[in-house]
Amino acid sequence: MRAATAEAMDRPDCHLETVTEVEHYTDRLFRFRTTRPASLRFRSGEFVMIGLPGGEKPVFRAYSIASPNWDDALEFFSIKVPGGPLTERLQKIVPGDGLWVKKKPTGTLVLDALAPGRRLWMLATGTGVAPFASLVRDPETWEKFEEVVLTQTCRTAAELRYAEEIVAGLAEDPLVSELAAGRVRLYTTVTREPHPRPMRITTAIESGRLFSDLGTAPFSAGTDRVMICGSMEMLRDCRALCLAAGLTEGSNARPAEFVVERAFAG
Ligand code: A2P
Repeated sequence: MRAATAEAMDRPDCHLETVTEVEHYTDRLFRFRTTRPASLRFRSGEFVMIGLPGGEKPVFRAYSIASPNWDDALEFFSIKVPGGPLTERLQKIVPGDGLWVKKKPTGTLVLDALAPGRRLWMLATGTGVAPFASLVRDPETWEKFEEVVLTQTCRTAAELRYAEEIVAGLAEDPLVSELAAGRVRLYTTVTREPHPRPMRITTAIESGRLFSDLGTAPFSAGTDRVMICGSMEMLRDCRALCLAAGLTEGSNARPAEFVVERAFAG
């Protein structure tokens, strides 16, 4: 405890939190929860810089907060990169370990950056689903939109489990179960093993398969809003598809029809 306090004083830009829960999904993906500093405020969908105490030179990475803003814990969904500057150590954390959380969450995948609309599309690849895990558990999402479609593309079906559990868990969520009932759909695709939808989400959008599978019209500026989170290539490709559909990119300063998380790192 004394060591932790001394370390916290070393970093006035950070909160030193405690890991409370770790769950490994595959050899590449895991989720963990930590205590939440009482003073840390954020909007659902934002990211924060996190790092591990105790290393020679702390390495910080941007992580979307996967828990909603009303939750008294923080949740993160992470990749494990062999030899990765942060995740090599992060993947070994256990309950009781410390975690640095920087004090200023930020980001563009927030409801404030979208103009009013009817249907909200959340497009994710891999751990890019994390901000959407936050947003689908936030009642404000359901107050602002009639319908939400969360899509996730992963290499294997096992990598979809986190999103599947989040969406299934909405039915038991005391804050959003009634709001979300019958208004949320999860659309998954898998690229590196056999699957009923063996394609990237970009292919499903371009071919029209996404819309025919769900029985909706293609993206339209009048009704649809889109949030995008994934690798740099995925962001670029999905952004191009939104622009081609006539949607305008929004920001905190200028809400519009789609938003992209630029700071998201792998
Ligand atoms: P693929 O297997 O064809 O590369 P990763 O785990 O490497 O971050 O990838 C997560 C998922 O994102 C994979 O299924 C991958 O498909 C897919 N993906 C990679 N690049 C793009 C892109 N530009 N647009 C859409 N999906 C992509």
